[in-house]
Amino acid sequence: MHMRHLVVSGLGLVACTTARNIFNLHPDHQGTRVISVAHGTALPQELVERNSGARCGLEFGKCPEDKCCSNAGYCGDTKNHCSSPDCQIDFGHCDAHDTPGGAPTDQIPRTLAGAVPYGPRFIRSCTVPGTIALTFDDGPKEYTQDLLDLLDKYDAKVTFFVTGNNNAKGQIDSPGMPWASLIQRMHRSGHQIASHTWSHQDLSKVSESQRRAQLLWNEVALRNILGAIPTYMRPPYSSCTEESGCLKDMGTFGYHVILYDIDTEDYSHDSPEAIQSSKDIFDRSLDSRDAFNRPWLVIAHDVHEQTVHNLTEHMLKRLTAEGYRAVTVGECLGDPPELWYRKDDNFDERIPRQSKSKHSVTKTVSVDGMCGGNVTCLGSRFGPCCSDTGFCGNMSSFCGIGCRPDNGYCGDDAGSVMHGGGASSDPNAGKSKSKSTKKPAKSEARSLLQLSPSVAVLLLLFLVVLMD
Ligand SMILES: *[C@@H]1O[C@H](CO)[C@@H](O)[C@H](O)[C@H]1NC(C)=O
Ligand SMILES: *[C@@H]1O[C@H](CO)[C@@H](O)[C@H](O)[C@H]1NC(C)=O
Ligand SMILES: *[C@@H]1O[C@H](CO)[C@@H](O)[C@H](O)[C@H]1NC(C)=O
Repeated sequence: MHMRHLVVSGLGLVACTTARNIFNLHPDHQGTRVISVAHGTALPQELVERNSGARCGLEFGKCPEDKCCSNAGYCGDTKNHCSSPDCQIDFGHCDAHDTPGGAPTDQIPRTLAGAVPYGPRFIRSCTVPGTIALTFDDGPKEYTQDLLDLLDKYDAKVTFFVTGNNNAKGQIDSPGMPWASLIQRMHRSGHQIASHTWSHQDLSKVSESQRRAQLLWNEVALRNILGAIPTYMRPPYSSCTEESGCLKDMGTFGYHVILYDIDTEDYSHDSPEAIQSSKDIFDRSLDSRDAFNRPWLVIAHDVHEQTVHNLTEHMLKRLTAEGYRAVTVGECLGDPPELWYRKDDNFDERIPRQSKSKHSVTKTVSVDGMCGGNVTCLGSRFGPCCSDTGFCGNMSSFCGIGCRPDNGYCGDDAGSVMHGGGASSDPNAGKSKSKSTKKPAKSEARSLLQLSPSVAVLLLLFLVVLMD
């Protein structure tokens, strides 16, 4: 038996999953081996109608008045237009442009300590026998709390690759949002917190300065929450090529670039009927191992309901039954915990921070119960929270999932910021909530199965090279 090379360098990464928003993609784009498939035409009809006329994108240019440019190339300011990563960051405003407050992190020293390789090398596999590193990307989101409860029950440690501001969840360090306290709980419980960038852009396709911002903004937000920044990251869509300069940049910023060797494909099996496929992938990988205690590095996503409420417990039961330990990525690589983060010695959490969001400056208070764009619910008689459908209210259907942090208050204790008035201005609020919770997470990657045959062949070829 021979151990496979765990770290590969000089090849660049191939995405095993693909991006939905391809804002910079030129038809002749040859520079990278990352495969991208645009799914840009499936915009809900209502969205198109509401904004008829204003087009944006490569052919049309930027949106007027700082509006957001949707994946399909329409200007507007709804959640669908402005949510990263689908929102086109080069052609208008996006939630990704709202940045966390507080001192920048670029002054934090970035020594490359320890034995685990940093970029431009990348890591696909764990090295410590008998360990399995479960990893969860794209959170925190509404199911993350349940996941933390489950992990506690099994005394399992995992790694969270956190995005700072995508899928319209708001900034992770926003006061009034549940994300910061969830991240602090992860830390207290012994999980590892790593970066999945600020807004889930494809790091091989953005400019160097955009790439830098994607890393540094997430650092600022995580520093505001933890007092430290992570040394581990996973590139969105697993895309970080050598040609684009991405891999080298990861080294410059002092990051370990983490991939995986089991892809549960949970993003394409998020239903009670389909999730068995993800369980099968996990089980088959364990069945096929060449040594009984061979370690594994597993990717899943805590933004998916079935991942949290079904798949993860299956994986925990199976790995426990086989004598494996569920550990963090740092631990499965033999890296001591003090090297998982860089502390910001100048950070003083007692100094209150101001969000630099442009959209929080000039807002008028809603007079008709509607919100969005320039109009905030804060101080209105309809309630302080702006729902994802653009109405003010004070109930959980307004203040909870989908709530727009740029247009009012978001969080559980809306009663304390109430300014009188009725409880609801949107007759459809309840309905819209149940609709939106069923929607699949938008940033999520697409299944390999949906790639064209030529792309699949290319991927296979590449895997053969890697396994060599
Ligand atoms: C969990 O997954 C199984 C398939 O593996 C499915 O039959 C079951 O209904 C799922 N449970 C829930 C609560 O969704
Ligand atoms: C938003 O507010 C700015 C400044 O107050 C104003 O110039 C702009 O026209 C407003 N936009 C809308 C859509 O109301
Ligand atoms: C919402 O507003 C109504 C009317 O002012 C009030 O009775 C109710 O307690 C509020 N609900 C919450 C959750 O604050």
